[in-house]
Amino acid sequence: MIRIKTNAEVELIRESALLVSDTLAELASIVKAGVTTEFLDKRAEEFILDNGAVPSFKHYRGYPFATCISVNDAVVHGFPNKREIMEGDLVSIDVGVYKNGFHGDSAYTFGVLPVLDEHQLLMKVTRDSLLLGIEKAIAGNRIGDIAFAIQDYCERQHRFGVVRELVGHGLGKNLHEDPQVPNYGKKGSGPKLRENIVIAIEPMINLGTKDVVYDSDGWTVRTKDGKFSAHYEHDVCIKRGKADILSSFEKITQRESSNSALLGGY
Ligand code: MF3
Ligand code: CO
Repeated sequence: MIRIKTNAEVELIRESALLVSDTLAELASIVKAGVTTEFLDKRAEEFILDNGAVPSFKHYRGYPFATCISVNDAVVHGFPNKREIMEGDLVSIDVGVYKNGFHGDSAYTFGVLPVLDEHQLLMKVTRDSLLLGIEKAIAGNRIGDIAFAIQDYCERQHRFGVVRELVGHGLGKNLHEDPQVPNYGKKGSGPKLRENIVIAIEPMINLGTKDVVYDSDGWTVRTKDGKFSAHYEHDVCIKRGKADILSSFEKITQRESSNSALLGGY
């Protein structure tokens, strides 16, 4: 069942979503070669707690960390660990916060210079596919219109792999609510989008095969062929019939551009 939010609820989700964005912006300043993903996770958790919220992911179905940090061939749900980030890494960071009874959930992929051309393209295409999906998040459209836009752009136009096993989702009082928001599907299919529905759209796009495997930790999802993957996620509300993006990449991209270790300039 899709729960339509009140205007007041949407504003609380926006507050949580913007705190997630600010958390990702904090990390954008400190991601560089030599830093461990565990350090980034600790910094994110501190920042979230300092801002009167709690990390949504910690203890969610037993997930042990505040963030998911998925490096290179890790697609999503990577465990922060003691491995040091290296030049050429793609570091996808997914953050959720719970504040005032509502969740925010957003993800961003950072490229640690020097980044291979094919990986730069993967990042750009994944991010552009998110924006193309968001353009379809308007009243009267269906979930399948978002899904098709993302799949068509990534698969047909760029021959990248669109992960099937994981999907975007509604969010609000719960981190995961109806509807599911796949990154593949048919135009005109699925639930209809209506005023004050809130969804997280999150394309997970692979340079090679769409197929994934699970690590022995039971969480980390990796590409089957070991090629790199990228992941961006925004929380979006249907407002006045249009897509209202509740999270924001603005501060993240500013910090990314001023961090000389990172690919920037989007
Ligand atoms: N953004 C991811 C999702 O919506 C993160 C949740 S993973 C978990 O699925 F760690 F919380 F489990
Ligand atoms: Co999500």
